Amino acid sequence: MKIPRPLPARRPLPPPAVADLLARLAEAEETLRAIRTGNVDTLLVPGQGGGQVFSLQGAEHAYRMLIESMNEGALTLAADQTILYANACFARMVHCPLEQVVGGSLRRFLSAADRTMLRPQMKRCLPAGSKMQVLLQASNGSRLPVQISLRPLAQDGFKGATLGMVVTDLSASRHSEEMLQALSRRLVEAQETERGRVALELHDNITQLLCAILVRCQTLADQLPAGAGAARLEALQLRDLIGQAAADVERITRDQRPGILENLGLLAVLRDTGQEFARRSGIPLQMAASKLPLRLPPEIELTLYRILQEALHNIEKHARARLVRVTLTRPRGFVQLTITDNGIGFDPAPLPHCQARPGGLGLLGMRERAAYVGGTLLVKSGRRLGTEIKIRIPLPVHPAATN
Ligand SMILES: Nc1ncnc2c1ncn2[C@@H]1O[C@H](COP(=O)(O)OP(=O)(O)O)[C@@H](O)[C@H]1O
Ligand SMILES: [Mg+2]
Repeated sequence: MKIPRPLPARRPLPPPAVADLLARLAEAEETLRAIRTGNVDTLLVPGQGGGQVFSLQGAEHAYRMLIESMNEGALTLAADQTILYANACFARMVHCPLEQVVGGSLRRFLSAADRTMLRPQMKRCLPAGSKMQVLLQASNGSRLPVQISLRPLAQDGFKGATLGMVVTDLSASRHSEEMLQALSRRLVEAQETERGRVALELHDNITQLLCAILVRCQTLADQLPAGAGAARLEALQLRDLIGQAAADVERITRDQRPGILENLGLLAVLRDTGQEFARRSGIPLQMAASKLPLRLPPEIELTLYRILQEALHNIEKHARARLVRVTLTRPRGFVQLTITDNGIGFDPAPLPHCQARPGGLGLLGMRERAAYVGGTLLVKSGRRLGTEIKIRIPLPVHPAATN
């Protein structure tokens, strides 16, 4: 907005007045240039009885065109939520002819809960504006998830309007979010089913086969004549190797199967996994667990177990740690598992959505699993600073079975 100063009446001009006049001429030229390039929409001309507002037709027209062609709803509202102006897009969103929208109340398109939420927001609408998500109730009965942005309009009481509102349709992004969530649920479920199948195959075929070979090796060693000492030793070593392979397969089978959670319970399985890790890797592991309900919902137990497995796997593979700490706590309403190592660490800067770090899907999988049960996963790490993986899962208000 520009405020041109009124020109004084003509009279002979002393030299300083010429300079002043030239300055005003330059200012007037600049104002004209701004008007021509569309940078000024309103002129406020001071007068004796106060300022007078002149709006410029061309600029207003351009703004109106912009708002009418927007792909978002735009409204101006009076303080009592009467709709003073709405664009065509908003009318389409609520499936109502524009002439019936304008002059009516916004309340008509909101549920009772959303109306209650909106009222205080409108009352104390800050100059910086506010945003919230609501469900628009269209006149054909359909509902549309939208985000509304509220802002007080610059002019104090100008044309009676007090608030400006932009309404953004969220249905497309909600839909993709839901699709993504459904997909990640399916992935986790498919992974578990596949693991169960592999565990069964390993147990039913490979373990049985290895046990049979082991027995045959022992029989062979027993049947070799006393003089064939070297061959007997070889047969016994073969038996031991096969025994080791059978034990490894058994461990892998056990790791794959969520069934052990049902049999042993979460705490026992986490302890068992930690001890097994320490034995295999030679890295000491300290575990501390708060008292938990006897059983948590099975999908939460499985998530904690799988995340611990993956985190320990990463420590063994990448961390070069000298100590690992695992803590299981229960902050109010949550269960939280933290796995810390004092290894070489890495740069955990988040990668663009859905992108895995070069190397694998471990961290991404952990995040997916956490999201699967409504939880969050935090990774804190830095070069030579070790790594902390923290997963926090909300517990249902009435857990299926507690102690
Ligand atoms: N505890 C850790 N200590 C050091 N580096 C780690 C740790 N955990 C993960 N990383 C780093 O993050 C990368 C990604 O891990 P992940 O997604 O599990 O894939 P992968 O283990 O197959 O490489 C690893 O390659 C490694 O560089
Ligand atoms: Mg990994």
